[in-house]
Amino acid sequence: MAKTSFVCSACGAVHKKWAGRCDDCGAWNTISEEKALSAGPAKKSLGAARGQRMALSDLKTRDAPLQRTLCGMDEFDRVLGGGLVPGSAILVGGDPGIGKSTLLLQAAAAFARKGLKVIYVSGEEAASQIRMRADRLKLTDAPVQLAAETNLRDILTTLDQEKPDFVIIDSIQTMWADHVESAPGSVSQVRAAAHELTAFAKRRGISVVLVGHVTKEGQIAGPRVVEHMVDTVLYFEGERGHQFRILRAVKNRFGPADEIGVFEMTGRGLEQVTNPSALFMSEREKPAPGSVVFAGIEGTRPVLVEIQALVAPSPLATPRRNVVGWDNGRLAMVLAVLEARCGIAFAGMDVYLNIAGGMRISEPAADLAVAAALMSAREQKPLDARTVVFGEISLSGALRPITQAESRLKEATKLGFRAAIAPASIKSVSSDGFTVKKLSDLEDFIIEIFGNTRK
Ligand code: TYD
Ligand code: MG
Repeated sequence: MAKTSFVCSACGAVHKKWAGRCDDCGAWNTISEEKALSAGPAKKSLGAARGQRMALSDLKTRDAPLQRTLCGMDEFDRVLGGGLVPGSAILVGGDPGIGKSTLLLQAAAAFARKGLKVIYVSGEEAASQIRMRADRLKLTDAPVQLAAETNLRDILTTLDQEKPDFVIIDSIQTMWADHVESAPGSVSQVRAAAHELTAFAKRRGISVVLVGHVTKEGQIAGPRVVEHMVDTVLYFEGERGHQFRILRAVKNRFGPADEIGVFEMTGRGLEQVTNPSALFMSEREKPAPGSVVFAGIEGTRPVLVEIQALVAPSPLATPRRNVVGWDNGRLAMVLAVLEARCGIAFAGMDVYLNIAGGMRISEPAADLAVAAALMSAREQKPLDARTVVFGEISLSGALRPITQAESRLKEATKLGFRAAIAPASIKSVSSDGFTVKKLSDLEDFIIEIFGNTRK
């Protein structure tokens, strides 16, 4: 007898009763009635694979180090943590139309050319449509097997016979397990399909990529639960209207999280961008007020990013605070510190903050660059165009130390910058042709660059 339960399609939480709002994630109208999973077969298969007991020291001696395969697309290999690990399960999430299928077809071809046996299963497009895409990408000669299939049982049978090394499931929302009594795309279906595919892949040492569409709320539709089942979660992101795409590792059991790969969508598919710093800076011929270059770190790589601010008198009672590519709360904090510690108010002014190139920054080290951009916009005074800025601002207005100052400075030097403004606590010193100006306080910084603005 199948029990029914009420599942939230946004976060996967299971409730005893229907409700208009999910208590777990706060989303409205996301709870629907579903037949509970029959957990039998899946559990048994996992047990068989992991049931044996052994000592940790056994593991070390018995298992050879992971044999990773590099596909040769550096931007993809790096985000995986240095190539594909056999038997790993990877979730690639992103908005519809962002380029997930394109990316994975290219990756599939690249791995196939390195000698892996690759099957690309599409539940969204017919084989002829995938062919057309492959044509456009000039990949028709790659030895990738295509299958247009949505029935999980048929897919597992095929995988059982073909014994591939690498499988792509595009997308997990279209897969459908016939022992689960709810519609394809529902949380139960997605969870069952993801579970069986990953368990099967682990048992056979097959690497599997699950493609997942993201809902408006930013979660992969339904199955945040899928994120827990896989080893690696990658998001493919980009701003509409920009051709740049960023593949970001948000979880990785086999490498650093926060690693990014940068691509450009062209008429012939995705091309790698090997020097992202150049891309995230708009044409910077002459210095402009409100524009500051931040020397950031994304994963293991330094990236220079341009931060742009616009400050204008507001006609509104509650002035606008508009942010693209950075955290709203963090902007509020920087504005509050500027006001409380340095006496610079933004009341009555609209503030717009934008990270150039469709990039998204989460590092607190960008605080000082944001403060500099805001001040520069407010005072209509450009910063020197050949200077990078980085540093975290504490609530007291002190500039806090940040990590990897050395690689930030090296990247700036490489790209022709001549000076940096940084927290006093970093070890780096000025060298021939490159000045490092160290400051310990936000107010010192403002006086240094903009003069005494305290009225
Ligand atoms: P797609 O990979 O189908 O997105 P997803 O699988 O994430 O839904 O990408 C679709 C978009 O990419 C579509 O708008 C067309 C564009 N595109 C190009 O610009 N160049 C190309 O070579 C290809 C294949 C797609
Ligand atoms: Mg697609």
